[in-house]
Amino acid sequence: MSVKVSPSILAANFANLSLECSKIDRSKADWFHLDVMDGLFVPNISFGMPIVKTIRKLTKKPLDVHLMIVEPEKYITEFINIGSNIITVHIEASNNLNQIINKIQKSSLKAGIAINPETPISDLREYIKKVDLVCLMGVNPGFAGQKFIESTHERLKELKQLIISSGSNALIEIDGGVNIENFQDLKSNGADVLVAGSYIFNSPDYNIAIDALK
Ligand code: DX5
Ligand code: ZN
Repeated sequence: MSVKVSPSILAANFANLSLECSKIDRSKADWFHLDVMDGLFVPNISFGMPIVKTIRKLTKKPLDVHLMIVEPEKYITEFINIGSNIITVHIEASNNLNQIINKIQKSSLKAGIAINPETPISDLREYIKKVDLVCLMGVNPGFAGQKFIESTHERLKELKQLIISSGSNALIEIDGGVNIENFQDLKSNGADVLVAGSYIFNSPDYNIAIDALK
C-alpha cells in the first residue's frame, strides 16, 4: 500500500516560496506539511499565519499544520479560518487536548496529536479513539535536517498496536529525519503518512524524491 507524503516546507527555499510550492503542488505529494514554531515550545521560531495564508493561495492540496507552540488553544480558531485542513497539536503542549480536538473536528477539519521522542506512547491512550492522526516525531522538534532517532521504529510498533487494540482509525504520521534509508521500515511497521523536509528539498528533483517515498 502506498503511503501519503507530506513535504515539510520548513526545508524549502523561502527566497522562492511560490516556485517551491508550485513544484510540490504539481508533484504526487499528498499534503503540505507546515511547521509553526513559537520559540517557546521549541528552541526555534519558524513562521505563522501569514505564511500559512500565503501557501493556502498556492495550492488546493490539504494543509497539514503542525503547531509547535505553547497555549495552542488560543490560536486554533485562526488556524481553522485561514484554511488549514489538518491541525496537529503536541500532547506535551496543552492540558486541554480534548477541547482542542473537539473544536477542530466540529469545523470538519482533521485533528492530530504530535508526540515527542521522550513522551510515553501510553500517554496517547485517552485520545486515541477520537483523534484522526498521530504525528510520531522521529526527532526532537525544532529544526529540519536532524538525524532520525532509531528508537522511533519501536515506538511506531507500540503505537500501531495501541491503534489496533483500541479500534482507532487514526493515521500514523512520521515526522523528522525521514529519508530513503528508513522509509521502507516505517511503511512496513504501519506508517500512513511520511513527512519529509530535507530529503525532498535537498534533492535535485523533488518528483523523484517524492515518488521514491511512495
Ligand atoms: C521538526 C519539524 C519537521 C521537520 C522535518 O521540528 O516538525 O516537520 O521540518 O524536516 P526533516 O525531514 O528535514 O527532518
Ligand atoms: Zn513537522
